[in-house]
Amino acid sequence: MFVDIHSHALAGVDDGPKQWEMTLDMFKQAVEQGISHLVLTPHFVEGDERYSQDTVLSAFERAKQLIREHGIDLRLFLGNEIFIDEKNVERLRKRECMSLNDTGYVLLELPEYILPGVLEDLVYDIQLEGYQVVFAHIERYGWLLKRRALFQRFMEQGVLMQVNATSLLSKDWHMRRRVKRLIRDGMVHVVASDAHDDVRRRFRLKEAYDLVGKKFGMQVANRLFVENPLRIIRDKQVDMPRIASLGFWRRK
Ligand SMILES: [Fe+2]
Repeated sequence: MFVDIHSHALAGVDDGPKQWEMTLDMFKQAVEQGISHLVLTPHFVEGDERYSQDTVLSAFERAKQLIREHGIDLRLFLGNEIFIDEKNVERLRKRECMSLNDTGYVLLELPEYILPGVLEDLVYDIQLEGYQVVFAHIERYGWLLKRRALFQRFMEQGVLMQVNATSLLSKDWHMRRRVKRLIRDGMVHVVASDAHDDVRRRFRLKEAYDLVGKKFGMQVANRLFVENPLRIIRDKQVDMPRIASLGFWRRK
């Protein structure tokens, strides 16, 4: 029973599938992967009709209808993956973009690079609005991971860190090592799929879960793939462990 808090499976409203056939295929794959709860998190793009809340909401209704019609045993939830910038913080303030399943948790995408001070201010503003922040696929942000003090401050302020299952299974050896070290040192709270299609960027939670279980134990695997994401969609507090070792920054 995996709980996936980051995916792009709504046809036509996102950079995921173009056709509903693929959406259906993705839902079937999700169930085969052992996913029981799936949060659909289309990107939030300001001013683009395709991503407007009405469009997304009607696509979500269609997706729910699809799983009912096909008897697929999957619970669907809705949210946005929100690119962090000043405008979107304003949109969040006005409740124009969506948190994860209408909880206090928001999934944020970071830019390739942003001045750390600016990022801290934006995160602080979002927290002032009463939201808890989840950074999406932190393994992509080398500039953030290099800054130990900054990263530690975010952890201490309760920012949750998500990595992609596919990064754990990447062909890139450096990427695999990076994500494993993040998990080993307690710097990850959630593993999610960030699935976009049924071929290249698909759900690979089961493979990733097995790998984490083998390497770090089932307790850690269950926490990252089931317990923490479930707490997020139920709007419950997620435990914030201290960073277990500074190894991530020490050995390169
Ligand atoms: Fe994403």
